[in-house]
Amino acid sequence: MHSFGFRANALLTFAVTVLALICTMTSLSDNLNTPSPSADVQVKDIYWFQKSTKGDDEVSMTLNVTANLESLFTWNTKQVFVFLAAEYETAKNSWNQISLWDGIIPSKEHAKFSIHTTNKYRFSDQGSNLRGKDYNLTLHWHVMPKTGKMLADKIVMSGYRLPEEYRRRSAAAAA
Ligand SMILES: *[C@@H]1O[C@H](CO)[C@@H](O)[C@H](O)[C@H]1NC(C)=O
Ligand SMILES: *[C@@H]1O[C@H](CO)[C@@H](O)[C@H](O)[C@H]1NC(C)=O
Repeated sequence: MHSFGFRANALLTFAVTVLALICTMTSLSDNLNTPSPSADVQVKDIYWFQKSTKGDDEVSMTLNVTANLESLFTWNTKQVFVFLAAEYETAKNSWNQISLWDGIIPSKEHAKFSIHTTNKYRFSDQGSNLRGKDYNLTLHWHVMPKTGKMLADKIVMSGYRLPEEYRRRSAAAAA
């Protein structure tokens, strides 16, 4: 006959085994989870586009950033860092990247958003390279996990172009 102690021990062993199995399965499911985030960015307005006193091209624009990053959130997600970058080619550099906006998404409840914003960081380029420039807007993200490796990916949106001519700061924008 099994003593009570033996049975309790057997039960505990079984419980630990099940727990380990559940952990392995959740971990696997996290790895198998293929996120399918979506993003759409519209350039609503170019406030101004001009040369700075230093002679660099500078742009101020309004953006409408809509994204659904809910699928990046799993049980193992602490938070997600996102940034929107303008990426373009110039004669000098085959790849230029300028961060225009960024944010931290603390939870899944905040992962579906639509924001209307001007560029938070300066969109400028040395010299006169930006007139009529084709560029991409790329939404990059870094998933910060509770345990394990950080994950990074992006969505590239192409087909954006800056105006051919400089635009002065309008009276309304300057006010
Ligand atoms: C921003 O873009 C989304 C998706 O394209 C659209 O539904 C929304 O009306 C836009 N908001 C503004 C202020 O333009
Ligand atoms: C912009 O996006 C297009 C299409 O994805 C890509 O071929 C091109 O290399 C990108 N340009 C830059 C400067 O990243």
